[in-house]
Amino acid sequence: MKTRVILGSVDEVPEGGIKRFDLGGRPIAVSRVEGVFYAIDDTCTHAQASLSEGKLLPDRVIQCPRHGGRFSLATGKAVRLPAFTPVHTYPVIVEGDKLVVETP
Ligand code: FES
Repeated sequence: MKTRVILGSVDEVPEGGIKRFDLGGRPIAVSRVEGVFYAIDDTCTHAQASLSEGKLLPDRVIQCPRHGGRFSLATGKAVRLPAFTPVHTYPVIVEGDKLVVETP
């Protein structure tokens, strides 16, 4: 059964920004692109760098700060080596001024 968790306020993730949140002990990176929020696992599947310290690129892609691996924000798919294993994605729901995610 899925669990809904309030991460924080929408204001904590400005347009074009990335912020790390704790989801029950699991770090996730939440970003906002053109008003849409995306949540993915914060830990890069290549060598465990924090993706929230990376940067957002065009086409809703995030680049890892350590070796430049890239992931789709929407699907979690690794789109550039050396990363090849996808990261998990989480649906983000905006409820008023709160960011809510559903855990698997
Ligand atoms: S740790 Fe992310 S690409 Fe290597």
